[in-house]
Amino acid sequence: AEEEAMPYSLVEKLQDAGINAADLKKLKDAGFNTSQSIVFAMRKDLLSIKGLSDQKVDKIIEAARKTTDAGFVTCTQLVQKQKSRFALSTGATKLDQMLGGGVESCAITEFFGEFRCGKTQLCHSLAVMAQLPPNMGGANGKVVYIDTEGTFRPERLRQIAESKGVSAEAAMENIVYARCYTSEHLVQLLLEAASLMVSDDDRFALVIVDSIMGVFRVDYSGRGELSERQQPRTRDEQVAEDERGVQRGRRPHQPGDGRSGR
Ligand SMILES: Nc1ncnc2c1ncn2[C@@H]1O[C@H](COP(=O)(O)OP(=O)(O)OP(=O)(O)O)[C@@H](O)[C@H]1O
Ligand SMILES: [Mg+2]
Repeated sequence: AEEEAMPYSLVEKLQDAGINAADLKKLKDAGFNTSQSIVFAMRKDLLSIKGLSDQKVDKIIEAARKTTDAGFVTCTQLVQKQKSRFALSTGATKLDQMLGGGVESCAITEFFGEFRCGKTQLCHSLAVMAQLPPNMGGANGKVVYIDTEGTFRPERLRQIAESKGVSAEAAMENIVYARCYTSEHLVQLLLEAASLMVSDDDRFALVIVDSIMGVFRVDYSGRGELSERQQPRTRDEQVAEDERGVQRGRRPHQPGDGRSGR
């Protein structure tokens, strides 16, 4: 099989830089599984982990920066890095064309639209497409599916898999599913997903959140709570972009579209 360079470095590696195992465990328990996740974090987030002193946090950040390439690269190197990106087919040719080939890897794609326009349907299709080989528009990967609305339908997946000529049983095995209830739960699930994605030997190609806005709209109301509402959402997005730099899709309702929410 073709070897891919890992786009992340596990926190365990920081042991080589003199960070002790007990502190690494604290980091992992707090959802920091990779050096990248530490580099992306604010110092205050690391300080909020019980048992990590100022000094330790500084040492951890320094070690993490060294093991990741968090510095400057030339434009040539950047282009080289981005060569491994690909587009995941949605299964619909016209939609792929509109997206410039499909859903872009290493990125967040947000689908929004009127209620019952087919967002959930698209999520189901993508969950199967992601597992297909590249010559069929897929990404040869497993899928994390986070469902905030209770609209996930395994039997629909089965139909889609069969229509693509792949085993429905295999397709179902390759999707890990969680029902999500609140925005805080979503943050926790994304952290768990991140840790699953780096610990599982199998490659994950896609994280789906259907939908992301619903839980935030319920948990935070009115303009007064707008900044509070945006903050965890941005953090969710960072978590989602973290870890593996793979394909992501999340499809909320249209912001402000009252009809499609709860
Ligand atoms: N491409 C399609 N062809 C035929 N029927 C479809 C297609 N896409 C969706 N549907 C049907 O349309 C209905 C709504 O689709 P879906 O649940 O995916 O919409 P949605 O945008 O997720 O809605 P909501 O805003 O309520 O979450 C469903 O009954 C679904 O089976
Ligand atoms: Mg839906």
